[in-house]
Amino acid sequence: MRVAISGSSGLIGTALSESLEADGHEVLRLVRRPTAGAGEIPWNPSVGDVDPALLEGLDAVVNLSGAGIGDHRWTKAYKETLRNSRIRTTAILANALARLDDPPRVFLSASGVNYYGMDRGAEVLTEDSEPGQGFLPQLCQDWEAATDTAKAAGIAVCHTRFGLALDRRGGSLGQMLPVFRAGLGGPLAGGHQYWSFISMPDVVAALRFLIEQPGSVGIYNLTSPEPVTNGEFTRVLAHQLRRPAILPVPTVALRVALGEIAATIAGSLRMVPTRLVAAGFEFRHPTARSAIAAALEA
Ligand SMILES: NC(=O)c1ccc[n+]([C@@H]2O[C@H](COP(=O)([O-])OP(=O)(O)OC[C@H]3O[C@@H](n4cnc5c(N)ncnc54)[C@H](OP(=O)(O)O)[C@@H]3O)[C@@H](O)[C@H]2O)c1
Repeated sequence: MRVAISGSSGLIGTALSESLEADGHEVLRLVRRPTAGAGEIPWNPSVGDVDPALLEGLDAVVNLSGAGIGDHRWTKAYKETLRNSRIRTTAILANALARLDDPPRVFLSASGVNYYGMDRGAEVLTEDSEPGQGFLPQLCQDWEAATDTAKAAGIAVCHTRFGLALDRRGGSLGQMLPVFRAGLGGPLAGGHQYWSFISMPDVVAALRFLIEQPGSVGIYNLTSPEPVTNGEFTRVLAHQLRRPAILPVPTVALRVALGEIAATIAGSLRMVPTRLVAAGFEFRHPTARSAIAAALEA
């Protein structure tokens, strides 16, 4: 297969590229810096620039671009960066793909659990659940809508709503690990909120499943079938690291430290992968125990 990936230098893009290349597939990376040889496609999403001719004849395009949600406090300017780096990039790709003579069979475009909101308590969230309200839920809705031109051109578009992808090198788990290893971890914001997580091997396997399985189209929750509360996640993580986790961090402290971002940690989202399971996808790490173990062993 020939697969183009935007945001390929990120956590998910790196893992997906490595997996595809290990199996002999050709990966073309859309890069925002000057290209460094074959296998890279230049693009400049800030000015809307990509040469559609370089996207002809692909089997799949995977769109994983986006400035880090937790990298900076959400100032007005950074909120614009968060939106532009997802919505504008997606629209540029979708518009280019819509103009191709030989378009890809499938266009996978990232979205996230916060499509469903910031806090939905214990409600089980399937792909049919209503969207939530607020900055991040609206961003996710606009991000998904940015693929409309590709859909209108008849390309099968999949929206992959990622849960928390567990990787010890980055993301939320990567940030938690030094604290927990120092024995300073504990439940966050009371610990009663659901966290929808997924192991990185399952993220990669699910993306590859959607690329390879004929008929993949529409919304897919990419998350483990057994979401747990933050308290349970904390307990399992501490147990596997053989460290205590008795220092709770209250919501107010998270708000002071992180500002608006705190809501992504303190809110409860219990997302389940109904459509992936119905399509026959089998999770290697369905439980918090197995997914955390996979991340720590990787
Ligand atoms: N990991 C998760 O738990 C999770 C959960 C929910 C949703 N998601 C979404 O899934 C996507 C991939 O996740 P990830 O964890 O791999 O993200 P990541 O590690 O933060 O990587 C995202 C990539 O986006 C590109 N990027 C960064 N800033 C950009 C900007 N200002 N404009 C355009 N592109 C920019 C970069 O790739 P290049 O430099 O190669 O262009 C970067 O490596 C992201 O959109 C993320 O929001 C991830």
